[in-house]
Amino acid sequence: MTERVLTGDRVTGKLHLGHYVGSLQNRVLLQEEYESFVFLADVQVLTTHFEQKDLIRSHIREMTLDYLSAGIDPEKSTIFIQSMIPEIAELTIYFSMFVSVNSLRHNPTIKAEAKGRGLDELYYGFLGYPVSQAADITFCKATIIPVGDDQLPHLELARRIVRRFNELYQPILVEPQALISNTPRLVGTDGNAKMSKSLGNAIALDSTAEDIAYKIKRALTDPARVHKNDPGHPEICPIYAYHSAFQPGHLPEIREGCERGTMGCSACKERITMALEQLIAPMRERRAYYAARPQLVDEILITGTKHAQGIAKETMKEVREAMKLDYFSPSAM
Ligand code: TRP
Repeated sequence: MTERVLTGDRVTGKLHLGHYVGSLQNRVLLQEEYESFVFLADVQVLTTHFEQKDLIRSHIREMTLDYLSAGIDPEKSTIFIQSMIPEIAELTIYFSMFVSVNSLRHNPTIKAEAKGRGLDELYYGFLGYPVSQAADITFCKATIIPVGDDQLPHLELARRIVRRFNELYQPILVEPQALISNTPRLVGTDGNAKMSKSLGNAIALDSTAEDIAYKIKRALTDPARVHKNDPGHPEICPIYAYHSAFQPGHLPEIREGCERGTMGCSACKERITMALEQLIAPMRERRAYYAARPQLVDEILITGTKHAQGIAKETMKEVREAMKLDYFSPSAM
């Protein structure tokens, strides 16, 4: 069987270096080896942002540009829009018949998200999004799902749903495997454990050279280093974490310069600014190319979505047969 990789992002807006390190970079590699699907989760984002209807369209555009600029190649990866695959919603309904509310209530990621957002009341769609995520995965029979560890409970549920479906009806769905990212989460420029746009500590993928320099200049370093020659503590410095993520080859030398106090923070920052500029410059070029061709970007999304729709129809036909919901022959309808 050929392996199929699937990844998706809630359409919450522009992507940043944290996404690049944690996911995009890996997707770009995986598309060389596997049939790849990348989708814009514009339905899942509604589970928490259902009133933000005016933002979704622009987020889709920006994130598609982020994908393309980061090197996701539309010749190698199918990029599609979740809400345009109605079979995902249909599958979600069928799956929801045999998923218990308690298993969703106890899902650790759901719990953490509900707490983080201060939701004292759980909405039906939010509580059920892991079920719809199982439909995202199974409609295209994806086999490899690269995820961070927060997504593991959802992957486990998807696997349980597949097993249950296959035993209740017919063995037609495929159990997905999680591919756990081993890259550490990228810290924010303020030292927060997570780089995040909403925390204001992110470096966006569409940054100009000036944006990068500015963000790095203002970034936190080891607070114990007041004078240039004070010995530094690389482990607690976000800049060191960036060297580690973006130019690991330079680490021993940078660590030594920092710990011995022979390299000051501003020199260290200059070096990471240069490395980031080298990473982002080609992205900026690709982004400019696609941004100047909005019709081409539409075509990429339309082609990818149509491809996914074709697969969804085939799977749904099998599902309906398996569930004995195929009342009439297709030619009669
Ligand atoms: N929940 C995922 C996230 O927040 C996005 C997502 C939706 C997803 N459906 C998926 C990821 C299916 C993998 C497979 O990042």
